[in-house]
Amino acid sequence: MDSISQLPDALLLGVLSLLPAKDVVATMILSKRWQFLWMFVPKLIYDDNYQNIEFERLSRFVYRSLLLHEAPVIETLHFIIRPKSNVVDIGVWTRTAVKRCVRELIIEMDCSSSSTAPVMLPRSLYSGCSILVKLKLKKVVLVDVTSPFSFPSLKELSLKSVKYPDEEFVQSLLSNCPVLESLVVKQCPNDNATIFTVKNSSLKSLVLENQDLRYNDIGAGYVIDAPSLEKFKIRDLHEDRFCVIENEMPNIVEADIDVAYGHPGKILSSITSVKHLTLCITSSKDAYPVGLAFCSLVYLEIWTLDTEWSNDLNLLMCVLRDSPNLRALKLEQLDCDGDRSCWMEPSSAPECVIWSLETLELVDYEGAEEEKKVIAFILRNANCLKKATISTESTDPNKRLEMLKELELFPRRSPNCQLAFYYSP
Ligand SMILES: *[C@@H]1O[C@H](CO)[C@@H](O)[C@H](O)[C@H]1NC(C)=O
Ligand SMILES: *[C@@H]1O[C@H](CO)[C@@H](O)[C@H](O)[C@H]1NC(C)=O
Repeated sequence: MDSISQLPDALLLGVLSLLPAKDVVATMILSKRWQFLWMFVPKLIYDDNYQNIEFERLSRFVYRSLLLHEAPVIETLHFIIRPKSNVVDIGVWTRTAVKRCVRELIIEMDCSSSSTAPVMLPRSLYSGCSILVKLKLKKVVLVDVTSPFSFPSLKELSLKSVKYPDEEFVQSLLSNCPVLESLVVKQCPNDNATIFTVKNSSLKSLVLENQDLRYNDIGAGYVIDAPSLEKFKIRDLHEDRFCVIENEMPNIVEADIDVAYGHPGKILSSITSVKHLTLCITSSKDAYPVGLAFCSLVYLEIWTLDTEWSNDLNLLMCVLRDSPNLRALKLEQLDCDGDRSCWMEPSSAPECVIWSLETLELVDYEGAEEEKKVIAFILRNANCLKKATISTESTDPNKRLEMLKELELFPRRSPNCQLAFYYSP
């Protein structure tokens, strides 16, 4: 203990920032040196589940420790609460927190709890949060407020499994964040936000997720108007939902599109400025619109499904044709045990394969005929390829050796192309 105590305050405070508040406060009894140190810890984590005491005692602990806490600014205040937590108490905590100049506030319900009833958050959350920069909420209920409110400094907002009074409330919440740069939304069943509208000109990063199978709202989807967006990620496994993008997003640099929608093409045509693209879309015939040009695209990652392997490869060829400057291509396969339908190699190679592609990566290779065809096609046409990396999950060393021998025999157009083959369980 002595040698630890000799470390500089800044370092000790950094270490204390990683511990639950209960342990942080407990360090005050260690020695004189430690008596006041905890009061300056910039990050406080109150974990109801970890402390496992009655809520009243926890609440008193939170309240007292916040009152005694001395740091001029609390960088992060993190509450992990249980379903039975009392709204009034959480209200007192947040009010105290707001007075203590909190920059990041995280309120989440303990995920290990079996209860699905989320905790309701108090109205005081909306008042006086003028210096709050980050707000992260998980599995909580937001209540309507009639009085005007604003989060003038809020740059990051995360709403995971949050329930709202109605759609208008969501819009008014977002429109009261004038400098918001990053928004993360994970929807949950019956969240009252059937059509989730994101309209904001300051937003740079948007993540939308809807992967809860119980979600069955009819006519639900997203409406987005965020012309300054640079990063966009959407994961939605519900076929009958939609995502309407009202205006072009000319600043998009990175996009990750994983949707089950029948017409993902509308999303693709709004993100043509993208440099780094990850795609997993159902590849029905009309999924990919004609006339797109991804002139800035340098990195493409495509997730393929075994059932639609040849469709996915056709989609891949379409994107390759429209991406003349692509340098890196990665193919990831999802569960590929099934028989693969036959893929027809195109009569000519896409321009980027011939002139710009430098790296090819194929994950989860199984040595199927169709996989070999694709690899052979690219190796045979790519003039600038530097490295082809192929990994397999096959546990059989003999089979792996066979795969490698076969791959090494494929003719390579590029004289400098290295082949890396490895086992990745
Ligand atoms: C969701 O909407 C219904 C119907 O308007 C309402 O009764 C319910 O309280 C709302 N849920 C929340 C969390 O406010
Ligand atoms: C979005 O951002 C702008 C600032 O860029 C802000 O003035 C506006 O209130 C925000 N909300 C909406 C709905 O545009």
